[in-house]
Amino acid sequence: MHPETVAEEIKKLKKDLNAVILAHYYQEGEIQDIADHVGDSLQLAQAAAKTTADVILFAGVHFMAETAKILNPDKLVLLPDLNAGCSLADDCPYDEFKAFRDRYPDHLVLSYINCSAAIKTLSDVIVTSSNAEKIVSSFPADQPLLFAPDKNLGAYLNKKTGRNMVLWDGSCQVHEVFSERKMIDLKLRHPDALILAHPECTEQVLDHADFIGSTTGILNYAVKSEATEFIVVTEPGIIHQMEKSCPEKKFIPAPPEANCACNECPHMKLNTLEKVFLALKNRQPEITLDSETLRLARRPIDKMLALS
Ligand code: 13P
Ligand code: SF4
Repeated sequence: MHPETVAEEIKKLKKDLNAVILAHYYQEGEIQDIADHVGDSLQLAQAAAKTTADVILFAGVHFMAETAKILNPDKLVLLPDLNAGCSLADDCPYDEFKAFRDRYPDHLVLSYINCSAAIKTLSDVIVTSSNAEKIVSSFPADQPLLFAPDKNLGAYLNKKTGRNMVLWDGSCQVHEVFSERKMIDLKLRHPDALILAHPECTEQVLDHADFIGSTTGILNYAVKSEATEFIVVTEPGIIHQMEKSCPEKKFIPAPPEANCACNECPHMKLNTLEKVFLALKNRQPEITLDSETLRLARRPIDKMLALS
């Protein structure tokens, strides 16, 4: 089917099912364009918490759709491709994390939303890259904290807040591959360009950034800035909205170290417009979670929403 026909069919199915489509900025532009809400992890969780739709189609990765299900246990939550995972979630298995957490009985557990529902059941509060600093700072300075699963975001937060959170050793396979060397080369060729980076990047890369923030933070910064050129150090899917919001500005994707397209998230990119159509048509693949996981994972997410 032609993409325009697919988009028309998606619109009809959405109406028939009373469905809402939530899409992350790292999705293909054509998916972002048919979504009801496009946003960062926090905005999409907030949209999921508020929706009155009967069906939620999550154009994102598994942990995001799980979060939508935890917030809406009675709704049908669809993920176009169930294999759309996340290296951060995969690198933090339940049993190992539980053993790690049990070594720090006095610590509160702050988990980045990029983790499985099972890890959320072991957490006191969930954070995203847009609210993490605020939530970390909301705890008294003498309260010991453990942060999982992203060591890069954790190290960035420790530096920003002066805390000494214990960190789980996980990372994002996309944000870890940006090359400091190639970014410096790019900056030499575009001296007026500002460097905008996501806090999942390594410290060496973040040290060069003019702005560090979540995907929405990066987008808003570029829109408001008087600068006209930007080096974008996050998954390049975000550039779709940047170019839509500021067609007169130039956005340069930061390159990975190897000659590959590994700065694109292979999990996010498993979703296609066709798979969105098929998921709505077939009412599957569906996210399912047992009632105990739904109940236990809800508390730290609600806590995050209240603190955001
Ligand atoms: P945010 O959109 O919340 O900044 O997260 C980025 C990310 O890696 C999502 O998987
Ligand atoms: Fe996970 Fe990184 Fe992909 Fe985000 S970009 S979904 S953190 S692998």
